[in-house]
Amino acid sequence: MTVPTSLKGPNLNAAAVVPAAGRGERLGPGAPKALRELGGVPILVHAVRALARSRAVGLVVVVAPANGVAEVRALLTDALGERESAALVVVPGGETRQESVRAGLAALPADIDVVLVHDAARPLVPVDVVDAVARTVADGAQAVVPAVPLADTVKQVNPASVAGTPEPVVSTPDRSTLRAVQTPQGFRRDILDRVHAKAVAEGVDATDDAGLVERFGGRVVVVPGHEEAFKVTRPLDLVLAEAVLARRRSRVEY
Ligand code: C5P
Repeated sequence: MTVPTSLKGPNLNAAAVVPAAGRGERLGPGAPKALRELGGVPILVHAVRALARSRAVGLVVVVAPANGVAEVRALLTDALGERESAALVVVPGGETRQESVRAGLAALPADIDVVLVHDAARPLVPVDVVDAVARTVADGAQAVVPAVPLADTVKQVNPASVAGTPEPVVSTPDRSTLRAVQTPQGFRRDILDRVHAKAVAEGVDATDDAGLVERFGGRVVVVPGHEEAFKVTRPLDLVLAEAVLARRRSRVEY
């Protein structure tokens, strides 16, 4: 996939912000999720490489656990080599994902116009998805989300207060209108800065950045995501990620 040179040109500079400060407790006990290994390499290194491989991305800002900044910086500098580490910044994160993204945004140089926010927990996102998101922002979108159709039918329920108790179904949304969203999500920098500032002022918390843009009246569009951009959340996701990596390596794609 080709990316317009304007993405790297003097008029449009793209950076990626990678929130990686979560503990990832649903994966079970052990190291913070971003430092768990996949094919012998930390999940975070895979995620940063996936972004750095895109010609659209000139700078990667990694948001690390507050007590792990030096460790993460050393790990990435080692893994990425001279050229890529020159375009790498590591800053401490916050209590929530939203706070961590805000810390990453605060570290961006003034000349950055396009921001891709990518969860460290999605280590195997193909470079074509990164390119497509960046290109759609470069082409004029305010906010862009990669997404895939749902395999399962979804039910809206009245959640039970006790886990395991039967829950009454409220409705069944039409599956053809639903998408499961992934990252990197791409934004015009001015818009992302504005919605994060508003979220602080109004005490709003959202699970993704595009949600903040929607909340404050911006326009968000969806582009095709990829099945390999799934989020590593539970132990079974690690098994799947290892299998995807092994398949890529056997095809010498990696
Ligand atoms: O917990 P969840 O999987 O939704 O986290 C999504 C991403 O946000 C992960 O990459 C995680 O490291 C990051 N995060 C963060 N700071 C927090 C909580 C989560 O950077 N305080």
